[in-house]
Amino acid sequence: HFSDVARVPGDPILGLLDAYRADPNPAKLDLGVGVYKDALGLTPIPKAVKQAEQRLIESEKTKSYIGGHGDTLFGEQLLKLVLGEGSPALVDNRAGCTQTPGGTGALRLVGDFIAKCLPGRSLWLSDPTWPIHETLFTAARLKVEHYPYVDSQNRLDVPAMLAAMERIPSGDVVLLHACCHNPTGYDLTQDDWRQVLDIVRTRELLPLFDFAYQGFGDGLDEDAWAVRLFVEALPEVLITSSCSKNFGLYRERTGALIAVTADGDSLIDVRSQFASVARNLWSTPPSHGAAVVGTILANSELRQLWQQEVAAKRERIAALRQGLVEALAPHGLAERFAHIAEQRGMFSYTGLTADQVLRLRREDAVYLVESGRANIAGLDAARLDQLAAAIARVVG
Ligand code: LMR
Repeated sequence: HFSDVARVPGDPILGLLDAYRADPNPAKLDLGVGVYKDALGLTPIPKAVKQAEQRLIESEKTKSYIGGHGDTLFGEQLLKLVLGEGSPALVDNRAGCTQTPGGTGALRLVGDFIAKCLPGRSLWLSDPTWPIHETLFTAARLKVEHYPYVDSQNRLDVPAMLAAMERIPSGDVVLLHACCHNPTGYDLTQDDWRQVLDIVRTRELLPLFDFAYQGFGDGLDEDAWAVRLFVEALPEVLITSSCSKNFGLYRERTGALIAVTADGDSLIDVRSQFASVARNLWSTPPSHGAAVVGTILANSELRQLWQQEVAAKRERIAALRQGLVEALAPHGLAERFAHIAEQRGMFSYTGLTADQVLRLRREDAVYLVESGRANIAGLDAARLDQLAAAIARVVG
C-alpha cells in the first residue's frame, strides 16, 4: 500500500527553490539552483531564443515525432559548437550527436549505456561533484567511485587528483567537468589537463565529459579546450552537453550525448545502442528547445546575437565575483574569500560550513546549497554589501 511508502527529503538543490519561494522575507536572496539572473533578479528569455521561436512558429509544419537521435540540424550544429568546426573526428565521420532531455537526460542515457554495453566498468567522479551525478549513476546501476578534487582547506588539489587517477583500473570511466566545475568553480589549467590526458591514455580509461556550462567560463571555444584536446588525442570520448544555461532554455530540457568513436562503423553500433536505450527512457526527445538551438546556430545573425548575450552573462558573473570579494574587504575577509574571484562559471564553493549555510538561511534569508555552494550568477550588484555583511556575521 502507499501507506508503506517512505518519504524522502527534498532534492538538495531543487528543494531550495520551494523553501525560497515560501520565505516571506522581502530581502531574501536565492543563491541556490544554477540559474542565471539579471540585475532585476529575473531570468529572461534570451533575445536570440525569442527571435528563433518567432521564426519557428511561422515555419513549423508538424508535431509528428522526431527520430530517436533528435533534430538533425541541432545535432549537426551542436557537434560543431562542441568539437569545433574542423574537428578531425567530424572530418573522419566518427562523432555523432543524440539529442536528450537536458544534460541530465544525457547523463542518464550514458549511464544506462555503460551499464548495458560496457559491464563491469566503474564510474569515477570528482569529490565533490554535482550531487545528482551520485544518485543518477547509482540509479543506472553503475558502481560509483571517487577521485579527490579539493583539499580540506577548500583549495583545488591537482597532485592528489592525479595520484588517485594513476590508480584507476584500466577501462573504467572517468567523469570530468569540461569547464566551470560544479559545485566548486575550480577549473584545471591547460597543463593540468595535459597531465590528466596522459593518465587517461596510459591507463586506457574512458573519459566522459560533463559539459553543462559552455560559454560561462572563458568563452565558447576556450571552454571547449579540454574536450577538443582529448578528442584529438584519443579514439573514444563521451560528452554530455547542456543547452540549459548558455541558451537559457532550462525548462525546455535541451541537451545531447555526443560519442566519438575509433571509426565510423563503431559509431553506427554505439548510436544504435543510444537509440535503443533512449527508447526505454523517453522514447524520442522533445522538439522545441533543440529546434530553437539549431535555428540560432545555423543563422549567422541569430548566432551572433546569441554569442553577444552569452558573453554579457559571462562578463557580468566575473564582475559579480570580483565585486563580492571587494564587498568582503571592509569585513577583513577579502583574503579568506579571494578564491571566489578566481573560480569560473556560475558556482563558487565558498568554504562555508553546513552550519553557517543554515544560519545564513535562518537569520538572513540567504539561500545556498548546504555544501557551501553559492550560485554567483543569481546575485545582483546592489545586494553584494548585504551578502558580505551576512557572511561576515556567520563566520565571525
Ligand atoms: C545546479 O546544479 O544547480 C544545476 O545544474 C541545476 C540542477 O539541475 O541541479
